[in-house]
Amino acid sequence: MTQITLPRPDDWHLHLRDGAMLRAVAPETARHFGRAIIMPNLVPPVVTGDQAAAYRDRIMSALPEGSGFTPLMTLYLTETTDPDDLAKAHADGIIHAVKLYPAGATTNSASGVRDFDKVRPLLERMAEIGCPLCVHGEVVDADVDIFDREAVFIDRVLDPLRRATPDLRVVMEHITTAQGADYAREGGDALGATITTHHLVINRNAILVGGIKPHYYCLPVAKREEHRLALRKAATSGDPSFFLGTDSAPHLDPLKENACGCAGCFTATNTLSILAEVFEQDGALDKLQAFASLNGPRFYGLPVSEQTVTLTKGDPVEYPKKIDTEDGPVTVFDPMMPLHWRVD
Ligand code: DOR
Ligand code: ZN
Repeated sequence: MTQITLPRPDDWHLHLRDGAMLRAVAPETARHFGRAIIMPNLVPPVVTGDQAAAYRDRIMSALPEGSGFTPLMTLYLTETTDPDDLAKAHADGIIHAVKLYPAGATTNSASGVRDFDKVRPLLERMAEIGCPLCVHGEVVDADVDIFDREAVFIDRVLDPLRRATPDLRVVMEHITTAQGADYAREGGDALGATITTHHLVINRNAILVGGIKPHYYCLPVAKREEHRLALRKAATSGDPSFFLGTDSAPHLDPLKENACGCAGCFTATNTLSILAEVFEQDGALDKLQAFASLNGPRFYGLPVSEQTVTLTKGDPVEYPKKIDTEDGPVTVFDPMMPLHWRVD
């Protein structure tokens, strides 16, 4: 096969930031994708319906003319989120999901949830109105090794939470482990999982072998090779539980190449070419559309795109190594392999 055509894909987990960064990265996603679930971890976070609507307007202003891209907004869940405001924003179509960050788990998560009992009534309300919960699934306990934090979260937090509120629709965001993939696969129709492009490509060696490589550091941190292979199997299976959420998370280079470097891989620019390469390597090009274009809308109850994108195989495609913002450069994720699939 040298050419494939898919319904225009969507990104079910994306960081667009704000200001100069937003203006630089929004066109990178809009070039190939039709919609994206937009993460609310700005500073300060997007916690009310009005803030989500205002952020959506700023995103629309940052898009190139006629891009046809639709941002799907989320609220950042706090222990003091107003359930009526949340329900209204959902009913009005301003938000499509709510994001749960355990406090301290990742970038700008300080306003997240410390005591999960405090958000139980909010979760009940979300189950009632059919608003999905997107979960950053890592415990933050100092005594839990960072490589075990996802698996421990499933046992200690996610499974009890889902048993207590069985009708809540939940997305396990950016799963990185075999345990995460197994749990999502067994979880029935109310549970989905996003998988990033970079976690299909790198294991933890990419971060640590031959020197410390900050552009491969993200959260949840990449795990051992056996977990990467489990994610590849899940993504390329076509199973509707799994869909693309790139977690493309731009940070300025000086903030990555730093004694305390920020977490995040910026993959918006070359994601589709990387995915085509990965799915071809696994003999699963025919499953790429399920992962990138069909399973996400199905979970979120949205129509599949009526537009298409075509990928053509040929000589390796060159992508820029960095993109420029008015505040400085952002490094594009380097998949450490040639990419033969060009997005037409
Ligand atoms: O690597 C990450 N970067 N993981 C997250 O959960 C947050 C994100 C960011 O906002 O930079
Ligand atoms: Zn994220």
